[in-house]
Amino acid sequence: DDYLWFEGSPFPVWGSSYEVIKEACAQFVIKDEDIVMVSFPKSGTHWLVEILCLIHSKGDTKWIRSVPIWERVPWLESDDGYNLLNDREGPRLLATHLPFHLFPKSFFTSKAKVIYIMRNPKDILVSGYYFYTMTNISKKPESVEQYFQWFIQGNVPYGSWFEHIRGWMSMRDRENVLLLSYEELQKDPRSTIEKISQFLGKKLNPEELDSVLKNSSFQVMKQNKMSNLEILPEEFSSSHFKITRKGISGDWKNHLTVAQAEAFDKVYQEKMAGFPKELFPWE
Ligand code: A3P
Repeated sequence: DDYLWFEGSPFPVWGSSYEVIKEACAQFVIKDEDIVMVSFPKSGTHWLVEILCLIHSKGDTKWIRSVPIWERVPWLESDDGYNLLNDREGPRLLATHLPFHLFPKSFFTSKAKVIYIMRNPKDILVSGYYFYTMTNISKKPESVEQYFQWFIQGNVPYGSWFEHIRGWMSMRDRENVLLLSYEELQKDPRSTIEKISQFLGKKLNPEELDSVLKNSSFQVMKQNKMSNLEILPEEFSSSHFKITRKGISGDWKNHLTVAQAEAFDKVYQEKMAGFPKELFPWE
């Protein structure tokens, strides 16, 4: 089959098993000191994770240069990630793409911190088109048009972007939840990094902040094989794939036709009806 289905949500076939997804959702115990990165795929997750790691090490680059990103910050719903997390002592950094309704309920009685990163869904769509074309993680689209249809139907890994964002947005007023956007990180990375470190209660001095900024930049991340996914095995991707593809906002304008963009906007307006527009940095 195209996906691994769990409680009506489609998961990619690579890296996860039904048993682990089920256990992660139903039984994983989130601890007070945990820090969780949450996103819909292609929203800038790896960028945020790199920033988090650099804040954690106060700008020191030893960690990000010697340990693969998925071991530093394991994926809750992946087989390897789940095992790593269960064995890990002390405060844990973890990442997940789980939709809100599947996220472990232990979170609600914990003081764990969650950072949700969002991005213009049209850019997510384009980024996903390339990602699933170049990797074997999920079914491959034959054209942008086909992927466009899948995306608006929620027929992509982790399901509907619209539901994902609506679900997680319901947590926006909690003091242990921080909402960020790819667009604000790009517009003003320095202040956004400061905002993140403040939220995490980690004070950075000016040199440390400079180092976080520099070493999480697109150019530096693209060269770091521990972060750009190029050392993943051939089964993941045989086409010299790197997660650092283009790293800009608005690339959808180079890929979607006017008709597609209009069709997208129509669906967006229906699905996001009643949601305050000012919460989102895109038009
Ligand atoms: P593009 O495909 O549009 O280039 P995720 O990590 O959630 O899968 O998101 C991947 C997207 O984040 C890709 O977008 C990738 O280029 C972008 N990205 C990764 N690292 C980045 C960085 N340091 N700065 C800006 N964008 C980055």
